[in-house]
Amino acid sequence: MHRLTDLDAMRAVLSHWQACSEHVALVPTMGNLHVGHLALIKAARQRSDRVVASVFVNPTQFGPDEDFASYPRTLDDDIAALAEAGCDLVWMPSVKTMYPLAERFSIAVPAQLANQLCGEFRPGHFDGVASVVLRLFNQVRPRLAVFGEKDFQQLLVIRRLVADLALDIDIVGWPTQREADGLAMSSRNQYLTPEQRRVAPSLFQTLTQTAEGLAAGNDWKALEGQARDKLEEAGFRPQYLALRCAEDLGDPKPGRPQRLLAAAWLGKARLIDNIGLG
Ligand code: PAF
Repeated sequence: MHRLTDLDAMRAVLSHWQACSEHVALVPTMGNLHVGHLALIKAARQRSDRVVASVFVNPTQFGPDEDFASYPRTLDDDIAALAEAGCDLVWMPSVKTMYPLAERFSIAVPAQLANQLCGEFRPGHFDGVASVVLRLFNQVRPRLAVFGEKDFQQLLVIRRLVADLALDIDIVGWPTQREADGLAMSSRNQYLTPEQRRVAPSLFQTLTQTAEGLAAGNDWKALEGQARDKLEEAGFRPQYLALRCAEDLGDPKPGRPQRLLAAAWLGKARLIDNIGLG
């Protein structure tokens, strides 16, 4: 597996692959890889000749009071896991390589998509995500890229980016990988104390019960109130619980797929999760 930090060196490898007509898939990550990330690598592996994984903790998607400095960095373990998973190249740019100019260009994600749900609580987050993902796409020039559905709003932002800028890249959304008790896998789960870790699966359970309530024809507002109460009783500080159209995160539309999404703090961990309906 190639381990590269230099853009010209990576482009030389990519040119060689291109000359052999090999298609490249990209799995963008911020490292601290877990089974969920490795499932994305596997999905990429099945769909492409070559797999590139990027490991870059992107400063522009963290707010001033967020965990950029303390975000877990485990590069040696990540490289070993990627090699084991069959990745062909790990791309580890420095901040200077990713953002070479002091005054940088940035993507402004349309407000309707960027300023709601997670974006309401993390201003500028999705602009930072879209900006770094576009840079990664330009650096790696993949035919396909794989993103986890756990970050469902992020997945839609990327799909919109690709459609609006006419990028010739297939975006594959991959189902959320879960622990045995239902907790969505996330690097931030390690911020949980053992007691909080026991409580954390309640977020997924609450989403599941709310979805069952909706399927049984119960009123959304009543279900939302019950879900918030349940989460607060368990020790969460909910930010949002929302029922949205799965295609554009607007209001649910008759006959179109829906998504139930939630974010809540539990101790020092901000947990997000979502499930599909009908
Ligand atoms: O989902 C993530 O890990 C990040 O938001 C991403 C897509 C790698 C961009 O930094």
